[in-house]
Amino acid sequence: MSLVVEGLSKQYSKQVQALNHISFRVNEGECIGIVGESGSGKSTLGRILLGLETYKEGSITYYGKTIAPRKRSDLRQFRKSVQMVFQDSTSTLNPKLPIWKSLLEPLDNFKEITPSFLKVEGLTRKEIAQELLEIVGLDKEMVDRYPGELSGGQKQRVSIARAISIEPSLLVCDEPTASLDVTVQVQILRLLKELQQKTNMTILFISHDIRAVSFLCDKVMVLKDGSIVDQFELSEIYDEGRHPYTKALIQAAKIE
Ligand SMILES: Nc1ncnc2c1ncn2[C@@H]1O[C@H](COP(=O)(O)OP(=O)(O)OP(=O)(O)O)[C@@H](O)[C@H]1O
Ligand SMILES: [Mg+2]
Repeated sequence: MSLVVEGLSKQYSKQVQALNHISFRVNEGECIGIVGESGSGKSTLGRILLGLETYKEGSITYYGKTIAPRKRSDLRQFRKSVQMVFQDSTSTLNPKLPIWKSLLEPLDNFKEITPSFLKVEGLTRKEIAQELLEIVGLDKEMVDRYPGELSGGQKQRVSIARAISIEPSLLVCDEPTASLDVTVQVQILRLLKELQQKTNMTILFISHDIRAVSFLCDKVMVLKDGSIVDQFELSEIYDEGRHPYTKALIQAAKIE
């Protein structure tokens, strides 16, 4: 079991209970989708898992080690194995830096890591960045460009390349395709799927779009008002016993 979350709650204020006794488990190499409407607590969960947000109640363990609610000293070690892709790549890619510099940041931070899918020996830093771009299906020439000179989909590919560069065992994606048009969304989902098969990383995929989740994920968790109302294997998505809210999400996705 790679990730175990037990009774996790998060209260921002008296009025806002963002997460309410959340429990779930994720196996190594599994892709779990977290789906729910706006404000249901998806990003809060992602941020807590990454140590970007504190929590008071519940426990999170990753390969048996506790992700402490407040202590940040373990964070660097944790970051080595857990990476994140956000909806908006502008928060990841510094507009003032050429792509190759942003791309190499994680590898520069963790010099001891050599990803198994990358042959880095004898390569210059820029060439390593080029290799990474090729892995996510981008032209090598883009290394010298700036984020402002890339399309949304291209920037998202760069963000993915950056996140997987240190071969994380867990990748948390928070609405990575939400700002993209449908064809590009599908391409990015395919890319994630392909990378997952290549590296066997565990993916936690956050989305309000149950179609995207069902394309990529083996398991689905449905969040509503901070609670998990349904949790199932993808093969069970059309089962009669699905929660009415899950059924409503499926129905809404069909009509859209
Ligand atoms: N930093 C914060 N301070 C106070 N309340 C917050 C904070 N961040 C989120 N919230 C509240 O917590 C609840 C859950 O927010 P969260 O961002 O986790 O939802 P979400 O499911 O990711 O929504 P979306 O689909 O719109 O991204 C919301 O009611 C939100 O207003
Ligand atoms: Mg969110």
